[in-house]
Amino acid sequence: MTYQPFARPTEPENEMTETAARHHDGMTHEAEIVAALGNRSVVLVGMMGSGKSTIGRRLGARLHIPFLDADHEIEVAHAGLTVSEIFAQHGEPYFRDGEARVIARLLEGGPSVIATGGGAIMREETRNRIRDKAVSVWLQADGDVILKRVKRRADRPLLQTADPAATIERLIGERSPFYRLADLAIASRDVPHEKIVEECVDALHAHLVSGGAASPSASETQ
Ligand code: S3P
Repeated sequence: MTYQPFARPTEPENEMTETAARHHDGMTHEAEIVAALGNRSVVLVGMMGSGKSTIGRRLGARLHIPFLDADHEIEVAHAGLTVSEIFAQHGEPYFRDGEARVIARLLEGGPSVIATGGGAIMREETRNRIRDKAVSVWLQADGDVILKRVKRRADRPLLQTADPAATIERLIGERSPFYRLADLAIASRDVPHEKIVEECVDALHAHLVSGGAASPSASETQ
């Protein structure tokens, strides 16, 4: 696996002031990010309830590039069956095959912001495609934040268990080694969405434009 780990060597500080950086060459940070992306996309990874769709939609609008939700695209590809119905009628392995195909297709159409389902990165082929065709951002949320957000709705088939809190902790344990391979990490917590979007923009700019200046991993910022 050739994903970059989060910890990066500290780079010398960019000497431009914040204001100068924002208006350098007359381009906004958002325009600089999109120019640096080329045809790569920004892919949001992380657990259910970490805010991938909510943040992704706002991030796409902010960058003026399309937002695509992989779960929604899978539902469209199944004539409107919901994710829960696809799990119930066809089983999880079938859903995972469709998910891998949909993400591969979405990655061909960059640049865009793509929200992936929480389990998508468990497939090596998907991880490799994301590494090759995107900049990945892990929205890292704690189990209690996730539980509070997902318990209002019954649309997560994997959480229809006797003890959803334990299921969430188990999935976090199994998946975090893979989420951690993302290029960037942002702590998803109960603050206004725009603050998380701002942190994504800053981290993307540091990574793509300011010479890969270290973006603190979510665990370092908590
Ligand atoms: C899943 C997450 C869901 C959806 C499916 C499976 C998972 O997407 O893909 O229910 O395995 O974590 P969200 O992460 O958008 O909720």
